[in-house]
Amino acid sequence: MTASRPWPVGVEGIVYGGDYNPEQWPREVRLEDVELMREAGVNLVSVAIFAWATLEPREGEYDFAWLDEVMDRLGEAGIKVALATATASPPPWLTRHHPEILPVTEDGTVLGQGGRQSYAVSSPLFREYALRMTRVMAERYGEHPALALWHVDNELGCHVPHDYSDHAAVAFRTWLERRYGTIEALNEAWGTAFWSQRYDTFHEILPPRAAPTYPNPSQQLDFARFSSDELLTHYRALRDVLREVTPQIPTTTNLMLSSATKWMDYFSWADDLDLVANDHYLIAADPRGQIELAMAADLARGVAGGDPWILMEHSTSAVNWQPRNRAKGPGEMLRNSLSHVARGADGIMFFQWRQSKAGAEKFHSAMVPHGGRDTDVWQNTVALGRTLEALAPVHGSRVLSRVAIVVDYPSWWGSELDSHPTQSLRYNEELLRWYTAFWDLGIGVDMVPVDADLSGYELILAPTLYTVRDEDAERLAAAARDGAQVVITFFSGIVDENDHVRLGGYPGAFRDLLEVRTEEFYALQEDEVRHLDDGSPADLWSEKTHLEGAEAVRTWADGPLRGWPAVTRAVTGEGAAWYVATRPSAEALESLVEEIAAAAGVEPSVPGLHRDVEAVRRFAEDGTTYLFVLNHSDRDQVVQVSGQELLSGTDAGGAFTVHAGAAAVIRES
Ligand code: GLA
Repeated sequence: MTASRPWPVGVEGIVYGGDYNPEQWPREVRLEDVELMREAGVNLVSVAIFAWATLEPREGEYDFAWLDEVMDRLGEAGIKVALATATASPPPWLTRHHPEILPVTEDGTVLGQGGRQSYAVSSPLFREYALRMTRVMAERYGEHPALALWHVDNELGCHVPHDYSDHAAVAFRTWLERRYGTIEALNEAWGTAFWSQRYDTFHEILPPRAAPTYPNPSQQLDFARFSSDELLTHYRALRDVLREVTPQIPTTTNLMLSSATKWMDYFSWADDLDLVANDHYLIAADPRGQIELAMAADLARGVAGGDPWILMEHSTSAVNWQPRNRAKGPGEMLRNSLSHVARGADGIMFFQWRQSKAGAEKFHSAMVPHGGRDTDVWQNTVALGRTLEALAPVHGSRVLSRVAIVVDYPSWWGSELDSHPTQSLRYNEELLRWYTAFWDLGIGVDMVPVDADLSGYELILAPTLYTVRDEDAERLAAAARDGAQVVITFFSGIVDENDHVRLGGYPGAFRDLLEVRTEEFYALQEDEVRHLDDGSPADLWSEKTHLEGAEAVRTWADGPLRGWPAVTRAVTGEGAAWYVATRPSAEALESLVEEIAAAAGVEPSVPGLHRDVEAVRRFAEDGTTYLFVLNHSDRDQVVQVSGQELLSGTDAGGAFTVHAGAAAVIRES
């Protein structure tokens, strides 16, 4: 199970570090930084992400002295650098001389200088400047011994996933011409016979800017595809420069895989990233935020195709950008970090190394807090460094799951479009609800794209797979015939790639597999709760579904659909296909998942644990397994194990106690 993606050059074991912004600090602080990094066991830092204006204070005039020194000192201390292209935020001179590179919102507002990421990614001029800066960086530091990895831009699309500028309009037209070839084909795909929307030439086409009413949905879906592709195209162009100058150094950019990031189809980016890096921030208001964290980590592993990946950013404690920013409790930062490692991250990094003194992020926690060394945060930073050193043998081992959840960005975009049966459907909430049911049962899952190889999975869940191609629907059907339990949920298979309804009854693409036919949706009002025949509540969605071979597993006990099926099951080949045509309560969902998992023969990784104890295994090529047990609950958990506990270095045999809030990693024998 050797990793097939490259790793930061010269970094041994688990990567540990953070974003390092030395340009914010005087020299004496930078000197102390290197000392403290050594004390904490840091081996990789991301440098110069937002340093463009410092490195090129005036067009064509560079000041590299400070960065040369930083690179040298880090190198001498044995700390490697993920060096940025420094292009994440254009300097004021650039936007002043060329305001035409600024991004524009849907309603025509120009987003100005003064924050960050103030560029229209489709602007040819901006791209030219970014390419030039990237080449300058590559040529200056390409041979530097501290250089281990290239960090392209930063969180591409974070603040401006969609730009509606004239540059975007031009690029969108080119993208559409490539996709459709002729304007007739586009008219057909967009269904422009509706509302007098027929286009005579590609020149007439615009991004879906603010309009008197709903812009064309196919246009909106294509604009989402285009916007994701456009950011990727920018990444590729910068990466190609880096590859040309420094073919020996791998390249990445920090993705934002989480339940909150909708607009970048990261599965389609995967092949272009030498290694996958993700940023994740805990949702402070969620008392069980560790579940969303785990889902994001599983998603990062999915994008990495199962290879080790790097958590490029998370926080040591509170962030500054949520409505109420919560400091992490005892053990929480360690558990968060180890949950990522358990799910395939072989690198744990933070935003940021030293907490800023000025600027918008001064109240965001860091590895070195305002309070300095005599703080819990610093103690935790040092302790995590030791822990990750002890976990070096885990590097390269893999997570193996028998359950797959299909995640599909176009379905996320499409299912949440306007003018639908309900405006309350949130694709990411559906994902998280199902994921939570598996979490509570202690069953590990892979998060996979719709075109993944499904052959190794016993249970495959596709929540709200709204837009689906025939071949992908067929792959799910084949998996069921070959023995898997396949679960499809409401508002799946409804439209083709162009957002045209599949006629003849819902859920179009899955009607034959599921052996059902829905004639009409019955969306439920806010707070309208109906009941299933087992007494459990369900909300949001119901539909009038005919059984056409399938059996009813649950039926409606009340409301206008009383007696009609709400959950169905059809035996097909060696497996079965389940249809969940509503949104069951969390409890009902869990019992349904339990039933389906039993049919699939899938069991928890460690049976009998408290629901807030996370247990995940990583499997090494030599047969060694590493069991991560993270106790998020407030009571001690006894686990039956045999092997060595790596964090304490003690032998663990028989009943081993993982204390409330604590974590353990057992090398099993
Ligand atoms: C993102 C950015 C960082 C920083 C953090 C704060 O992840 O990449 O520069 O702003 O958010 O949480």
